Amino acid sequence: MHSKYEIDEMISAKAIAARVETLAKEISEHFADTDKLVVVGLLRGSFVFIADLVRELTLPVEVDFLEASSYGNSTESSREVRILKDLRGEIEGRDVLVVEDIVDTGHTLHHVLHLLEARNPKRLMTCALLDKPSRRETDVKADYIGFEIPDEFVVGYGIDYAQRNRNLPYIGAVRFTS
Ligand code: PRP
Repeated sequence: MHSKYEIDEMISAKAIAARVETLAKEISEHFADTDKLVVVGLLRGSFVFIADLVRELTLPVEVDFLEASSYGNSTESSREVRILKDLRGEIEGRDVLVVEDIVDTGHTLHHVLHLLEARNPKRLMTCALLDKPSRRETDVKADYIGFEIPDEFVVGYGIDYAQRNRNLPYIGAVRFTS
């Protein structure tokens, strides 16, 4: 584990807010006919994004959370996704939007979608704030993507490095100095 690092701003809070507004508009149009959209945040990384996104949706929504973890305190994916907390509600026959902070190797989203598909939702779609396609090891791709980013280790807006920096209001790239 690296001990020293600096953080360079990559996506400003203002740019994130503008993109979240656009995504919410597109999602609201897509699900305009829904009774109630179940918005599922993948903990912990999505907690900031989902909070901003749902406040821009112009639909009746239910918010639920699922906690999946694959990284522990390392920067490398273990490729083993563990479900630490399941949904509270049922999703059978419901419209569901899974909200992820970042899709990196894709193992987390792939695993979660497989799990949720088996519960027979009416529609199951995905929204990721960040997408790192160059790191993909599965064929998963989010339906809605905020920003495509290069292969850099990022923090902020919910995303951590060793459980720090989730509270940064912007997305920053970590530059290790030792
Ligand atoms: C991170 C991130 C995504 C996942 C993406 O979660 O929040 O959920 O990894 O990586 P992948 O596409 O390679 O699977 P992490 O397991 O670190 O848990 P956290 O959300 O609690 O930080």
